Amino acid sequence: MTDASTNLKRAAQMIADARSVVILTGAGVSAESGLATFRDPEEGHWSKYDPMQLATLDAFNADPELVTRWYHWRFTRARDVQPNPGHFAIAALQKHKAEQAQSLTLITQNVDGLHQRAGAADVVELHGTIHTWRCTTTGKETPLSELSFDTFPIPSAAGGLMRPCIVWFGEMLPQEALERSFGAMAECDLFISIGTSATVEPAASFLLAAKGNGAATIEINRDPTPNTSIVDVALQGPSGSILPLILNELGIG
Ligand code: OAD
Repeated sequence: MTDASTNLKRAAQMIADARSVVILTGAGVSAESGLATFRDPEEGHWSKYDPMQLATLDAFNADPELVTRWYHWRFTRARDVQPNPGHFAIAALQKHKAEQAQSLTLITQNVDGLHQRAGAADVVELHGTIHTWRCTTTGKETPLSELSFDTFPIPSAAGGLMRPCIVWFGEMLPQEALERSFGAMAECDLFISIGTSATVEPAASFLLAAKGNGAATIEINRDPTPNTSIVDVALQGPSGSILPLILNELGIG
């Protein structure tokens, strides 16, 4: 048996044995749907654009038209692609765990909504969502589907502007998402990191925190990350291929 298939079987066994699983995902899980990641040296958003000019409140205040256009473009990309087998496998695993009276908490740094479209429930959106926007004056939230993108930026009824409900660099993460994440990490016996470079805090430290609490750890990622050397099992490759293989090993789906 190759190392890869031994590791795959080990990971499947760890998942079968776990009563409380936390999965943390990043942009890599949506890559096979056709959405760019952030740090890919050729295709990543941050290899083409300066995050300080697009993903901060200062950037929005300085050039709200540019920032609104960029997030509207990202929304149309997310809307026009489909969840991939990785998203569907995570949703199926979550359903399976619930049927066994066990739990799987899904925490994502992604704002694209693809986990939900694949059927995942109660997704903790750590960095917010591109599908809801809010007024800069009142904070009132509006589903993007109710907004008209005739003008950029989009004026709000209260005289402010509409901005995406995304966490920009320098902003606080949503309190409820943080509390749910830390609660789940304190209780989990298995933590799985999928498709994230583990470079943006606080998510970057989640795996270490769960490990410190005694959880077993798995990483599924195309490239090595700072977590690769500290996890119990590292599976290197595309999550859209590896996750269905794990499900197959578990006899799910
Ligand atoms: P990154 O772009 O930093 O990392 C994506 C990771 O996914 C990399 O480690 C890739 O090797 C891996 N990857 C790529 N394709 C994959 C595939 N098919 N299967 C598995 N892994 C694959 O994205 P994030 O870690 O999500 O925040 O970035 C974290 C945050 O930084 C984002 O939420 C965003 C960004 O700036 C904000 O915009 C606030």
